[in-house]
Amino acid sequence: MKFTLLIIDDEKNIRDGLAANFELEDYNVKTASSGEEGIELISKGDIDLVITDLRMPGISGEEVLKHVATETPGIPVIILTGHGSIDAAVDAMRHGAYDFLTKPLNLDQLGIIVKRALESREMKLEHQELKKSVESKAAFKGMIGKSPAMQKIQETITKAAASKASVLITGESGVGKEVVARAVHELSNRKDKNMVDVHCAALSETLLESELFGHEKGAFTGADHLQKGRFERAHGSTIFLDEIGEINQNVQIKILRVLAEKKFERVGGEQTINVDVRVVAATNKNLEEEIKAGRFREDLYYRLNVIHIHVPPLRERKSDLPLLMSSFLATFNEENGKSIKGFDNKAKSAMNRYDWPGNIRELRNCVESAVVMCSGDEITLDDLPPNVSSNNGEDTIQIPFGTTLDAAERIVIEQNLAANKNNKTKTAEILGIGRKTLQRKLAEWGIEESDGTESEE
Ligand SMILES: Nc1ncnc2c1ncn2[C@@H]1O[C@H](COP(=O)(O)OP(=O)(O)OP(=O)(O)O)[C@@H](O)[C@H]1O
Ligand SMILES: [Mg+2]
Repeated sequence: MKFTLLIIDDEKNIRDGLAANFELEDYNVKTASSGEEGIELISKGDIDLVITDLRMPGISGEEVLKHVATETPGIPVIILTGHGSIDAAVDAMRHGAYDFLTKPLNLDQLGIIVKRALESREMKLEHQELKKSVESKAAFKGMIGKSPAMQKIQETITKAAASKASVLITGESGVGKEVVARAVHELSNRKDKNMVDVHCAALSETLLESELFGHEKGAFTGADHLQKGRFERAHGSTIFLDEIGEINQNVQIKILRVLAEKKFERVGGEQTINVDVRVVAATNKNLEEEIKAGRFREDLYYRLNVIHIHVPPLRERKSDLPLLMSSFLATFNEENGKSIKGFDNKAKSAMNRYDWPGNIRELRNCVESAVVMCSGDEITLDDLPPNVSSNNGEDTIQIPFGTTLDAAERIVIEQNLAANKNNKTKTAEILGIGRKTLQRKLAEWGIEESDGTESEE
């Protein structure tokens, strides 16, 4: 990779001399005859390193340094100075210059400094990239799924996290809205402070208001001391308003004001409190319908919905099932001190067929109970909750409409017998009838003689 150096000096022969020297060493070189011109070139981007004279008419080298430190931090700045101004050069070092060199210049020395500066810059960039990818891996650790829908969500989260924009997360119950909210916070530069959660549906109207905005001493009976609200505690961080669809109009207006003006008053208070809070909200309601029904403010909806993340239900991304199943299996193996290897084919296919109306939460609970129930080294149909295990097509009995009760009874008995390898005791037990009754019916249908022998066991 070819690096681009910018040389700023009001003396033409120094500029040209340095440019010729560095071009020979295979750098791209740009030159500027003043601080103003230099800053303009820096602002255009793709400068990797700046070499600037300290004393120039107009904008000085110090000011170029200041500009780089605030606008494009990370670009090394090397200061050139005459003998008389070493103090100023030392001062520049204190303000973040990479190094300084006195004129007349020793080009070899300058070449070494430039090389070293670029290497350390590259290392810093690599380190930043690495740190970012480690952080995003950690933030997405609790978010399993490689389906296209989940990949798209992770991309959106990564982009959204960098900004301060409000995020609205929608999706059915148990799809992982809270997991998404947490990732948005963990990937943002607010991650060093805890995200503040508010479960809006769990609190009554008055409680919610004082939870969110706090209250002054004596604001209402029982308010015997000043209480800071969650917005205040979330200053500099993220607030997660869960179940936002459940809040009443009065609180909606107050939240709207925080979003629009970043300020509010505590309940019973006069003093206006300013906060810097990033708002992430979630709901399993259709807010557009709530707006139509007059239950949710449209203006608040637009303020919340700057970035929208919809988490699709599990049944629409079943390709995530295997990963989720094995990850939950590992979790619950560890929790229960078991070492179950996996799911047998029938269990897998039943789980795959099932619709998962409770989404990932239901899947997680299902795997947990299966791990507890399982006594072998593979989870089987028997270990699954009945609503899931009954989804194995092979184990379903189909009885057409219009079948008489007698005929239906015969189908049920015959198919259960077959499924239980003709074991009558087990079949009778499953069907909740006595073994003798079963035997009699089989005899009636001419399937077997009622001779009372117990030969099959
Ligand atoms: N992608 C995922 N990977 C691993 N676990 C997940 C994932 N999504 C959700 N979960 C787990 O599923 C459970 C439900 O997730 P979460 O609480 O985030 O859902 P929700 O959408 O907020 O549900 P609700 O609407 O009921 O509040 C949690 O235990 C969570 O850890
Ligand atoms: Mg939730």
